[in-house]
Amino acid sequence: KEELERGSFRPQYHFTADENWLNDPNGMVYYEGEYHLFYQHNPEDNVWGPMHWGHAISEDLVHWEHQDIALYPDENGTIFSGSAVVDEHDTSGLFNGETGLVAIFTYDDEGYQTQGIAYSHDNGRTWEKYEGNPVLDMPEEVDDFRDPNVFWYEDHETWVMALAVGQHVYFYQSHNLIDWVFTGEFGGEGALDGVWECPELFEMSVDGNVDETKWVLQVSVIDGGPAGGSGMQYFIGNFNGETFVNENAEDHVLWTDYGADYYAAVSWSDVPDGRQVWLGWMNNWQYAEATPTDTWRGAMSLPRDLSLTRTEDGLRVVQEPAKELKALQGEGQHWSNEIVSEGTDLLQNVQGDTVEIIAEFEVNDQTTATEFGLEVHKGGHEQTTVGYDVHHAHLFVDRSESGETNLHHLFGDRQHAPMSPMNETVKIHIFVDRSSVEVFGNNGTTVFTNQVFPTENHSDIDIYVQGGDVTLKSLHIYPLDAASFT
Ligand code: FRU
Repeated sequence: KEELERGSFRPQYHFTADENWLNDPNGMVYYEGEYHLFYQHNPEDNVWGPMHWGHAISEDLVHWEHQDIALYPDENGTIFSGSAVVDEHDTSGLFNGETGLVAIFTYDDEGYQTQGIAYSHDNGRTWEKYEGNPVLDMPEEVDDFRDPNVFWYEDHETWVMALAVGQHVYFYQSHNLIDWVFTGEFGGEGALDGVWECPELFEMSVDGNVDETKWVLQVSVIDGGPAGGSGMQYFIGNFNGETFVNENAEDHVLWTDYGADYYAAVSWSDVPDGRQVWLGWMNNWQYAEATPTDTWRGAMSLPRDLSLTRTEDGLRVVQEPAKELKALQGEGQHWSNEIVSEGTDLLQNVQGDTVEIIAEFEVNDQTTATEFGLEVHKGGHEQTTVGYDVHHAHLFVDRSESGETNLHHLFGDRQHAPMSPMNETVKIHIFVDRSSVEVFGNNGTTVFTNQVFPTENHSDIDIYVQGGDVTLKSLHIYPLDAASFT
């Protein structure tokens, strides 16, 4: 029975390794109709260990096909995180004038970290390491030197690398992906409770207006996140090809996600239509090795579309579930204009542990409820609550009674984030999978990503209200088909 229960935590439409340990997404690149997802992987064990790059390919960001391991450790070290690019004009000289894929990754040799490259002539199926590796040595004065994020910087016709170095990001330039020159650094501000990892720098248009762009620098921080432990923060500003300047004048940290389990997210390069699409490792270094799963451990978040929006509070990165996920929706159930009071049992017999829920509540001066929301993975004495606190204008997620919570004290806390109603509406969009709950508030302006481990597969869904009534303007619940992983 034990084995059955643990097996049942396997996500049905989130990416997991076929077997054993997975952490960061790596080498995200779209090339010739295929999305490549590489990932930090220990093929020998269900805990972190000698890192390899596992690999999977998808044509639609939803159905993934497992591939052979792409990169194995070698005499320079094990293979830590990094990126991949399309070398369209053979700047590297590795492709005989043709186009090919180049992966840029960190070698870790017991803490001595250098950068190496590998190339593929066959659309990512097989990889050869560059014989002159490593291409960038670790400076003597630093302790951490990893996670290269490489992109083409059109204005200077050069490759740029952003690298995590302690609590800084270093920038380098190269004309051939082999010879790298240091150009500048940014850091020492923002969230500084832990070391910075997995930086990513990209340019985005503001409110979809191509004439107004800003640069976004995302960094993962290993400790001190908004829900405790690992988290992600971002900066908005400018990049001149050499260094990043933060233009965000606010004195508080801009958090990417308010849940406990969103880390090391990076985007695919070269996605058609200029889309910025990413996903993250749905985990937290505080307890990543203690999650109760077998024979796999670690899952990716859903792919998400990013945009940059001007809000009352300033510019913000918005994350919405990638539009491709609609393909998973089965026949939905729908409710509209219901007044929900304490004791209303609207969702009798509604169940599901792989579902999408889209709820819109009216919140204005007439609202008498003090709190309302949805409960998922409910049954016995368990539930995960996604709620709205009317007086504080907070969206929150509470997983203190979500099931197995004793793996870490971080499971006991209620996480919350400021979120004002939008045109008198609080919109809560939830994706429930076997062992995760992802919440997109008000069209992705406020996001929470969390793992949960409900015992006995509890899967009731409920709406609750406290203190008075709330109007449910509309509710959609869709069963989601298990995406096939082959
Ligand atoms: C982030 C990280 C990276 C590193 C990799 C090692 O989760 O610590 O900084 O490259 O994981 O697996």
